[in-house]
Amino acid sequence: MKLAVIEGDGIGREVIPAAVEVLDAFELELEKVPLELGYARWERTGTAMSEEDLEIIKECDAVLFGAVTTVPDPNYKSVLLTIRKELDLYANVRPVKPLPGIMGVTGRNDFDFIIVRENTEGLYSGIEEIGHDLSWTKRVITRKGSERIAEYACKLSKERSNKLTIVHKSNVLKSDKLFLDVCRQTASAYGVEYGDVLVDSMAYSLMMHPEKYDIVVTTNLFGDILSDMCAALVGSLGLVPSANIGKKYAFFEPVHGSAPDIAGRGISNPLAAILCVKMFLEWMSKPEALLIDDAIADILQKKTITPDLGGRASTAEVGHAVAKYIIQNL
Ligand code: NAI
Ligand code: MG
Repeated sequence: MKLAVIEGDGIGREVIPAAVEVLDAFELELEKVPLELGYARWERTGTAMSEEDLEIIKECDAVLFGAVTTVPDPNYKSVLLTIRKELDLYANVRPVKPLPGIMGVTGRNDFDFIIVRENTEGLYSGIEEIGHDLSWTKRVITRKGSERIAEYACKLSKERSNKLTIVHKSNVLKSDKLFLDVCRQTASAYGVEYGDVLVDSMAYSLMMHPEKYDIVVTTNLFGDILSDMCAALVGSLGLVPSANIGKKYAFFEPVHGSAPDIAGRGISNPLAAILCVKMFLEWMSKPEALLIDDAIADILQKKTITPDLGGRASTAEVGHAVAKYIIQNL
């Protein structure tokens, strides 16, 4: 097993070393391939990611990724979107689950759902034209793209409560009618109980009744926005991980970005990145993945937490504490 490790920029350079320390605690037979990509690389060399980098990534089985800062260049092609497309990572899986003793903005912890975001098309098609007086971006919804994400979501539903919520905006965006129809047909074929909600109404409902949902399937931009919003339900952007899954590769990254406002101070919360390690271990069918939940419960109880959660611990201290728990309990 070969894992590409990409810290990226900003707090990616803090949270990924902490996550790698936790990964190393499991002593797996794993070859780690470090790669420098992103804004700092672009500043230094003029390219954020080269063709060779992409080839190295494709030779790996999976990727652990921090975050990259968007490069201020109109011709810049997003590193993340390029990797998602090139590796055909069509399913972005974002679990939204409370952590013990941590209350988010709504003060409740009775929810546990997963956002399944289509990851290769929609408004992130990359087909756009930027002009002085007119700019546009093409929103692409295909039957194939909708089918495979709907199937992924239905399979996940079958492993859980058999309930699926389809989120769309087909009353205004006619392209979403195809997405909605395909999701409904797929859910029927799989025997999954389903309903659908318009995305604006869903934003409200997720804050008011997050307990109602289990698997939520949606298009690219809506999934991106809703998952940041749901981080507020959990309590911090520093707590929510994600997995980008394709037929051949898997790519694990926190939902958050490079957070330049706090980068370099060692106060970023590494738990989202550490939960990415858990998702990676689960993807490899390693039962010891669950030890990460126990370790996190332990450090939360001892209040080894970063300032976003009201604590004083540094990023590295949280990483050490989680890794130490794992070494002692493996
Ligand atoms: P952001 O997610 O980096 O930060 C939003 C807010 O949440 C900030 O106040 C930040 O301090 C806080 N935050 C985020 N992660 C945290 C953590 N682990 N611990 C404590 N606080 C945390 O979003 P923002 O500021 O809009 O974007 C910054 C840069 O990151 C931009 O260049 C953006 O394009 C890029 N970005 C990259 C992503 C990626 O590489 N996956 C995803 C999202 C944004
Ligand atoms: Mg995002």
